Amino acid sequence: MDIVETFIRSGRLTREGYAELLAASRNREAAKSLQREAVRLQKATYGNRVYVRGLIEFTNYCKNNCYYCGIRKGNRKASRCRLDREEILACCERGYALGLRTFVLQGGEDPWYTDERMADLIQAVKERWPDCALTLSVGERSRESYRLFREAGADRYLLRQETADESHYGKLHPPEMSPERRKQCLWELKELGFQAGAGFLVGSPGQTDWELAADLLFLQELRPQMAGIGPFIPHRDTPFAGEKAGSVDMTLRLISILRILLPDVLLPATTALGTLHPQGREMGILAGANVLMPVLTPPGIREKYELYEHKSSSKDEAGRLGELAERVEKIGYRLAAGRGDHREIRGDIRKSADR
Ligand code: 5AD
Repeated sequence: MDIVETFIRSGRLTREGYAELLAASRNREAAKSLQREAVRLQKATYGNRVYVRGLIEFTNYCKNNCYYCGIRKGNRKASRCRLDREEILACCERGYALGLRTFVLQGGEDPWYTDERMADLIQAVKERWPDCALTLSVGERSRESYRLFREAGADRYLLRQETADESHYGKLHPPEMSPERRKQCLWELKELGFQAGAGFLVGSPGQTDWELAADLLFLQELRPQMAGIGPFIPHRDTPFAGEKAGSVDMTLRLISILRILLPDVLLPATTALGTLHPQGREMGILAGANVLMPVLTPPGIREKYELYEHKSSSKDEAGRLGELAERVEKIGYRLAAGRGDHREIRGDIRKSADR
């Protein structure tokens, strides 16, 4: 039995096995088998539904200095700004009117947003829109902070490990950032009852199948409810300005592998994939993804939240949900209303419109 078949049957491998699977997946037929199985599982779990999240990029201040990221502290050219509480609530208001039932508050690690300010914001959102899910994506904080956010009402948390390989992590991040701490945050988030989202960059400088295999093994252990992956895209004002972008095909193969590894995971076809290819997100859905995250960020800050170059920031995507729905329908899927929770917690949700 070859490695692709072994993986499809068991849904799990060793690190060596994953490295072998990734190498084998470069063969067209192997990639097709993985895609076929991924779509079968996607449909078995979620039918043809694609869930939508309104992404609010509320601050591009960041105290970290990740070598790949356009809003790193060391980028003096980045023009910094943040939305305040009222501006964020106005984004949610607009998103709600458009039909969105999940809001994702994403930002750099901005010390102005203290635990108290975050908790107040979370409470305000959950009080006004109790039928909506609230996802946070604000980086590493203490377990106590995470607990506070959870008690304030946050439902989900996105924190990519970026790479699970420790030596590779050290090549993408300055020495003060720790791969152990990052992974520990994810375990804590899960323990605290968040629907947790992990994930990694595809094609970051120096990454090989061996490093990617570590990410797959980590996700196999963590079993997160969500997983976000996207190709690395160089940004001109970072140390990685001259590096090559990650590959769309490799990202698509990894989406299929993730669907097989975690059959009911919520898996977005990311903006970065859509940035590298005009049909990238459709291709992502056809590879096994089932979430889209249109940007709700208002113009003014939207173009400043430049994690990588050519990040499609000019369009008001959330304002054109109709267009997004049409694109998804063209490939045989439909945008789902409702919060779109992970299966494991659906029993807890009373007001979910569309299960
Ligand atoms: N290319 C692609 N993705 C990036 N991110 C940050 N910088 C880049 C880049 N240059 C991703 C990181 C982070 C997410 C919010 O954006 O994976 O977790």
